Amino acid sequence: MTVVIVPGRVNLIGDHTDYVGGLAMPCAIDLAVTAEFERADDIALTSDATAEPAVYPLPDLGALAEDATMWHRLVHAVATLLPAARGAHGRLTTTLPIGSGLSSSAACTIALALTMGFAGDKRELVLLAQAAEQRATGVPCGVLDQLAITHGEAGHACVVNAAEIEAHAVPIPAGVAIVVISSGHARALSDTPYAERRREAERAMAEVGGLAGATVADALAIPEPMLRRRARHIITEDERVRAMVEAFAQHDAKRAGELMLASHASLKKDAEVSTKDLDQLVDALSTRRGVYGARLTGAGFGGSAIALVASDTADAIAETFGGRVVVPSAGARVVT
Ligand code: GLA
Repeated sequence: MTVVIVPGRVNLIGDHTDYVGGLAMPCAIDLAVTAEFERADDIALTSDATAEPAVYPLPDLGALAEDATMWHRLVHAVATLLPAARGAHGRLTTTLPIGSGLSSSAACTIALALTMGFAGDKRELVLLAQAAEQRATGVPCGVLDQLAITHGEAGHACVVNAAEIEAHAVPIPAGVAIVVISSGHARALSDTPYAERRREAERAMAEVGGLAGATVADALAIPEPMLRRRARHIITEDERVRAMVEAFAQHDAKRAGELMLASHASLKKDAEVSTKDLDQLVDALSTRRGVYGARLTGAGFGGSAIALVASDTADAIAETFGGRVVVPSAGARVVT
């Protein structure tokens, strides 16, 4: 029996920037998809998230049924895109809530790739998982989640550079903890304006000649107000990620918290990806003793908020808000 553990992630800062080559600072967490399997000639995999097993012959899987469930779509996409996919009989279980903005889809595709014998480097795994998720869900996701999940280290966040498809770990300052709170609205990104936001962001970046070197003044010179706001979000969010890296290096949790609140305001007003529930959650968190900062995490449109808090207040804050403390953890790994 082989066991693969693939964590989800929270994003501390830098959302709706990866698909235009921006920066982000996520961290892998201690909620994960676990795959347990034996090598076999074909694929027969069950998931605790769905009743139906996914059974496919190899090497020719055959076509995907038109009414295939998301579980089948994910298995089929990974097996089709992975060169020389190997057979496996086993099951996937998850402690990651699905549709909560904690990258359950990316964790699932990466767990499936490792289960089907993926043998390349991290960059190849990131690109394979992104392609499989895009194919299965139809959502034009970036590489943030996959980079966080493959590069996670215990006690660290990752600085993600989406343009370079690169990530490196940076220590999380001592004395701070991360609390995740669900907005109560689980969603599939395919049912949200995510793809529309990506297209708008691409148009906005075309107006300023690309993100590299673009300034807020460039954004403000865009004639169309919506594109101006989108560009301003991306350019200022990238600056905030750089400032966050600096704040962590200086062990300055107060500054990190301020940056998170500014990020949320920008995601709300300029990127327009927040919801009333997320805004209320962030407002309530931000006035609570022990909270340095809070923001929505990931794509928004529902999902979860996170708060950066003083460690000794974390359990009480999690309890008050019905959330949970998550621990920055190691990335995807084969354990046996
Ligand atoms: C989702 C996508 C990522 C990224 C975030 C928003 O998690 O999968 O690629 O775009 O939304 O930052």
